[in-house]
Amino acid sequence: MNQSVLIGPFTQILPLDALPVKGALTDDRLHLIEAGGILVEAGKIKAIGQFDDLYRQFPQSSIQEITQKAVVLPGFVDAHTHACFAGSRALDFAARNSGKSYLEIAASGGGIWRTVAATREATEAELLSKTLDHINAFLRQGVTTIEVKSGYGLSVDAELHMLRAIRRAAHESTATIISTCLAAHMLPRDFTGDHQSYLTYIEHELWPLIQKEKLSKRIDIFIERSAFSSETSLIYLQKARQAGFSVCVHADQFTTGGSAVAVKTGAASADHLEASGQKEIEHIAASKTVAIALPGASMGLGEPFAPARALLDAGATVAIASDFNPGSAPMGHLLLQASVLATYQKLSTAEVFAGLTFRAAKALELYDIGSLQTGYVGDFQAYPTYDYREILYSQGRMEPFCVWKRGQPHNIR
Ligand code: NIG
Ligand code: FE
Repeated sequence: MNQSVLIGPFTQILPLDALPVKGALTDDRLHLIEAGGILVEAGKIKAIGQFDDLYRQFPQSSIQEITQKAVVLPGFVDAHTHACFAGSRALDFAARNSGKSYLEIAASGGGIWRTVAATREATEAELLSKTLDHINAFLRQGVTTIEVKSGYGLSVDAELHMLRAIRRAAHESTATIISTCLAAHMLPRDFTGDHQSYLTYIEHELWPLIQKEKLSKRIDIFIERSAFSSETSLIYLQKARQAGFSVCVHADQFTTGGSAVAVKTGAASADHLEASGQKEIEHIAASKTVAIALPGASMGLGEPFAPARALLDAGATVAIASDFNPGSAPMGHLLLQASVLATYQKLSTAEVFAGLTFRAAKALELYDIGSLQTGYVGDFQAYPTYDYREILYSQGRMEPFCVWKRGQPHNIR
């Protein structure tokens, strides 16, 4: 029989329950449980409330006592990363900061292709170990669910190589890993044929193997002048939906067009959106597609932030993800990025916490994480403070002292 464990008392718990999935949120909507407790059984939340009440109600449960100040949030959900890669792009970073353009860097052998070369050369064991290191770093930040994309293979074999490494990382890590196939990241330099024939090759040769080996249920594409056009992408994504995949899109990063394709294909998310204008904002807001802001890419490239404020005011669901990758977003610190985005875009604490939890879970179509309520997975984290507002205020300096994954504590510091 599974023993239930009562964890607490916590100074404050923010369950982030009963909040709307779409639109702006003011902080007075946040429900706080003071001197709270969480009762966990078989990895799920059995009850949540005042610690003393739960103690009386469930006298048979064992106690995991918290003896320090502690503010609890649901585990964060990072719905957009490229955490499986080999090699470094420090050369690109330095060249960009010295004034070279993205296209000049790509033309001189840098850019995504540099990472493709390093990733193709890595053994599966090397890729696994690097991916696990990245995932474990996220877990220490309180990120308990992490999406990881392929997209540095760009051939059937090399994409399978990445997706298998991601699956092994998922088995070996405590975090929940959701993998996405981004074989449509750019037209590989060694492919003889045009964009359309490359996408047809991926569809015919790679998708069946992904489905046979159950490597991923999600397809992503980079819609941009330097990658794939809106027209070819629309057909690719429609075929992906027909084949039973969920889809998401790298959209409106430098030029618009991608977000309209995302909405039209019923994409779970449209990610980036730095270039989105009012028309795109209203279109996304009227749809079910989650808008994912990636402040780490804006900070890595020196580009504007996604218009998160305008998206929320128009009624969109806004999630915040790290986009952790060796090129445009090498930082990989989700909370720091979210709190900087909040300052520049004027986001309330409630909007940021929602964007890091249940709204990000919606982007991954997961509906039993991201909020602390009965029946949900016991993924949560505790910060060493008396007041939840200290968390964003510290701009990433304050980190959780303990992260619970399926109710199991991982003491981090
Ligand atoms: O999300 N925009 C395209 N893809 C990545 C960058 C990948 C890379 O530069 O390696 C992104 O920013
Ligand atoms: Fe990305």
